Amino acid sequence: MPQSRTRTVVVLAAGEGKRMKSALPKVLHPLLGRTLVGHVLAAAAPAAADRTLVVVGHGADQVAAHLAEVAPDAVPVLQAEQRGTGHAVRIAVEAISDAEGTVVVLNGDVPLLRPETVTALVEAHETAGAAATVLAAEVADPRGLGRIVRDARGGLEQIVEERDATAEQRAIREINAGIYAFDARLLRGALGKLSTDNDQGEEYLTDVFGLLSAAGEAVAVHVAADATETLGCNDRVELAALRRLLRDRVNAGWMRAGVSILDPETTWIDVTVRLERDALVDQNTQLRGSSVVAGGATVGPDVTLIDTTVGAGATVLRAHAVQAEIGPEASVGPYAYLRPKSRLARKAKVGTFVETKNAAVGEGSKVPHLSYVGDATIGEQSNIGAATVFVNYDGVAKHHTTIGSHARTGADNMFVAPVTVGDGAYTAAGSVIIKDVPPGALGVARGEQRNIDGWVERRRPGTAAAEAASRASAGAGAGAPVAGEGEGLHVVGGAGERDSTSGDTAIE
Ligand code: UD1
Ligand code: CA
Repeated sequence: MPQSRTRTVVVLAAGEGKRMKSALPKVLHPLLGRTLVGHVLAAAAPAAADRTLVVVGHGADQVAAHLAEVAPDAVPVLQAEQRGTGHAVRIAVEAISDAEGTVVVLNGDVPLLRPETVTALVEAHETAGAAATVLAAEVADPRGLGRIVRDARGGLEQIVEERDATAEQRAIREINAGIYAFDARLLRGALGKLSTDNDQGEEYLTDVFGLLSAAGEAVAVHVAADATETLGCNDRVELAALRRLLRDRVNAGWMRAGVSILDPETTWIDVTVRLERDALVDQNTQLRGSSVVAGGATVGPDVTLIDTTVGAGATVLRAHAVQAEIGPEASVGPYAYLRPKSRLARKAKVGTFVETKNAAVGEGSKVPHLSYVGDATIGEQSNIGAATVFVNYDGVAKHHTTIGSHARTGADNMFVAPVTVGDGAYTAAGSVIIKDVPPGALGVARGEQRNIDGWVERRRPGTAAAEAASRASAGAGAGAPVAGEGEGLHVVGGAGERDSTSGDTAIE
């Protein structure tokens, strides 16, 4: 947008938000990926601004720290005592006594505002050469809001707060959204004349309109095309309503961009998330933070992704992932927990009841069942047997385990880190691996099995087990197979016995 005039944005964020009943300042409450004030700053960004000021007061340190994170160019201005919206703007304008051009003022609690709306307001204001322009909306329920009082010719006469309004004025359904554009010089003059002669004993920013209009200056109303954009947030019921509206807006945007969302009412996507065409999001799914879902990937049902990337064609089912990278065509879940720095390469699999943390699972490698993989590197095309624990913590420090490529580790293994299993190595089921296994070797680390024949009949006589044993041994003479006599079942070095080494095939 061409800028003929300088512009300053002032966001009002010093209020406590009493009705939120929260230790957190109202403007820091989160709403689908940004705080309330973060949404307002994002909406104001395209209209702006040679500079942006944020008036802080309640929880000033917290709000200033948040600004430093999300909008480092925004300058916090302290309003130590909250003496009204007019007082707040006065303090901001005093901090920039050289300001010229347009001052855009936004309440910090109007998070559904679209950037296009702010831009349109500012352009209308500047084109008309108005002294002040207010964003208004026609709403079904104007309760608690300032009313737009128009004169006989339809121009703006004044803005009246509900508590100061007459019964007739209260019937007006055109409300002040709390978003304004002002001529800097005229604003400064009017702010100096504000009184506190109202029901709250505060300096009202809205009184600037009456003052300017009485002085013969042009004041204007810009009506928002979509009234939902102007909804404020005063308590947590309103916050939840705003969240549903924003959810619907975000979901509709993605569906129109080519993303399938099977159940939009149970799908919550932060405004900061990116999805590609032909991604599919199934029900009960939350996509948060900087998460990205590539085309052809399926996410859900019952998935939460926080700052997690999902590659093309991957499948993530009933899973919770935080700061994880899920590669193309990888498969996660059902029931998996990927913790920070979990990195799954192409076609990797992290299956059912598996938790990973700071772990790289190489291309085509699988951790299918019931395992914890912490602080590990797994090469390509390896298989980790069911019920394996990467024992990374010695009670003081964390250690790393490395599994090579094309390895086959047995079911129920413990890898006591630091330890390495080489390329193409196997480990026997039930092993506690504390020493490196060289490439191509079979690592076996378990007690040898001993069968004590006849123990049950001698020591548990009369039990159902003893009776079954007795029937089995009577039948043995008639040619029934004898348990335990099979070749290999107790052979520790049974490299050829896939059932004793490969947990995956043993389970399936
Ligand atoms: C204000 C408007 C009202 C409008 C409504 C829209 C005034 C007098 N009234 O009412 O016409 O319909 O917004 O939501 O402006 N704030 C400060 N310092 C203060 C007081 C407020 O920074 O001393 C900030 C708050 O943090 C908030 C914003 O200003 O972000 C609005 O304040 P709030 O008290 O919610 O104003 P309303 O009474 O809702
Ligand atoms: Ca308010």
